[in-house]
Amino acid sequence: MFSSNPPLGLYIHLPWCEKKCPYCDFNSHEADSIPQQAYVDALLDDLAQDLPLIWGRRIESIFIGGGTPSLFSAQSIDRLFSGLRSLINLAPAIEVTMESNPGSADAANYQGYREAGVNRLSIGIQSFDDRQLALLGRVHNGAQAQRAFRMARAAGFDNINLDLMFGLPGQGLAAAQADLARALALEPEHLSHYQLTIEPNTMFHHRRPQDMPDDDLCFEQQQACQAQLAAADYRQYEISAFSRAKRESYHNLNYWNFGDYLGIGAGAHGKITLAGENRVIRRVRLRHPRAYLEQHGAARIASETELDSADLCFEFMLNALRLKQGFATRLFHDNTGLSLNEVLPTVKQACDKGLLAFDGEKITPTELGFCHLNDLQALFLTPQSKKNKPFFESSPKIMHN
Ligand SMILES: C[S@@+](CC[C@H](N)C(=O)[O-])C[C@H]1O[C@@H](n2cnc3c(N)ncnc32)[C@H](O)[C@@H]1O
Ligand code: SF4
Repeated sequence: MFSSNPPLGLYIHLPWCEKKCPYCDFNSHEADSIPQQAYVDALLDDLAQDLPLIWGRRIESIFIGGGTPSLFSAQSIDRLFSGLRSLINLAPAIEVTMESNPGSADAANYQGYREAGVNRLSIGIQSFDDRQLALLGRVHNGAQAQRAFRMARAAGFDNINLDLMFGLPGQGLAAAQADLARALALEPEHLSHYQLTIEPNTMFHHRRPQDMPDDDLCFEQQQACQAQLAAADYRQYEISAFSRAKRESYHNLNYWNFGDYLGIGAGAHGKITLAGENRVIRRVRLRHPRAYLEQHGAARIASETELDSADLCFEFMLNALRLKQGFATRLFHDNTGLSLNEVLPTVKQACDKGLLAFDGEKITPTELGFCHLNDLQALFLTPQSKKNKPFFESSPKIMHN
C-alpha cells in the first residue's frame, strides 16, 4: 500500500531533427519545416488528458527532450510555458531542462529559452573532433560545439550538461581522453558520458562503421575517463552521469528513484501512481508525429497499462540499480507500495554473487555489480515480469540528461 505519491516530473517530447544521425534510435524525424504552433497546441491538449490523474499534485521538474527541441523558436517555447503554467502547478524552484544541438544553437534563441523559463541546458556535443563528428553524421563541427557552450553561458545558463560519447569508430584511448579534456575545459556543471551503442533499426546497424573499438578498449576508455572526471571534481552518481556538487539532474534522479512522470508529445511515456487506488499506470502516446498531430484528446494515447507487482519490482530495480550510491530500502516501499520482502531473496542472491551490498538500510551495487549492470538487473527479471523484456532491452537509453 502506498502512503503517499512519489515526486512528479513532466517529460515533453519534441520529435524533429535537422538530419537523422546514423546511430540514433530515438523517436526523431527529419523535417524541413516544423508545425510548431500546431504541435504546441497538441501538447497542451495532450497534457489536459492527464490532469485527472494528478489533481492536487505539483510538478517538481520538466525535461524537454527530443529530437532536437532547440529547433523550436523561443516564442514557441514561451507559448508552451504559458500554457503549462495555466494548466499545472509548478514547484517554485522547478528545474527545467531543454536539449539542444550545437548545429541549431542561436544566441537570441538561447536568451529567449531562458526568459521563457528554461534554467538548465543539455547540449549534444558527442565529440569535438571534426573527423568523428562527420563519421557520426552530425550537423555541427567542434568549433560550433564550443561556440554553443559559450553562447549558452552568455545567455545566462549557469547549469549546463554536455553529452559526450566514447567508443567511437577508430577512436583510441588518447583520443577519448582528449575529447573529454576539451569538454572539461569548458567547466560544465554536468557531463553525460555514453558509450556509442549500435542499436537495431539504425543506419549503423545496417552498415556497421569500420574500426569500432573492441570491448577491452571501450572498458579502458571508460575507466580512464572516469578517473579524469573524478580528478576534475565530477562525481559519478549514475552509470553515465557525472556532476559537480549539488548539480545532479533532479529530473533524471526522479526516474532512477522510480518517481512519477507525465509524458506528453509523440511517443512519450508516463508513469503515474494513484496512491488512493493503490495502482500505478503507464501511458504511452502515439509515436509518429503525423499521427499524433492528426488525433485529438484521448485518441493520442496509444496504450495505458497497469503495472502489477512483478513489473513494479523489476522496473524499480532496473532504475535504482543505475545509481552509484544505491538507494535506501525505504524508497522501495515508498515508490512501489510493496514490501522489500518481494525482492529480498534476489537481493541476497546478488549479494552472494558479489554484485550487491546490503546493510539492512541501504542497497548498493558493488564495483563488480556496476561493471556488470545488465547481469545484475536481469536477476530481478522474473517469469511474470518477462513481458517487460522489450522495455528492459531499451532501458539503458534513459538518456535525458
Ligand atoms: C536525444 S539525444 C539529445 C540531443 C540532440 N538530439 C543531439 O543529439 O544533440 C540524447 C543523447 O543520447 C546520446 N545517444 C543517442 N544515441 C546514442 C547511441 N546509439 N549510443 C550512445 N549514445 C547515444 C547522445 O549523446 C545524445 O546527445
Ligand atoms: S542523436 Fe539527437 S540530433 Fe541526432 S537524430 Fe538523434 S535526436 Fe536527432
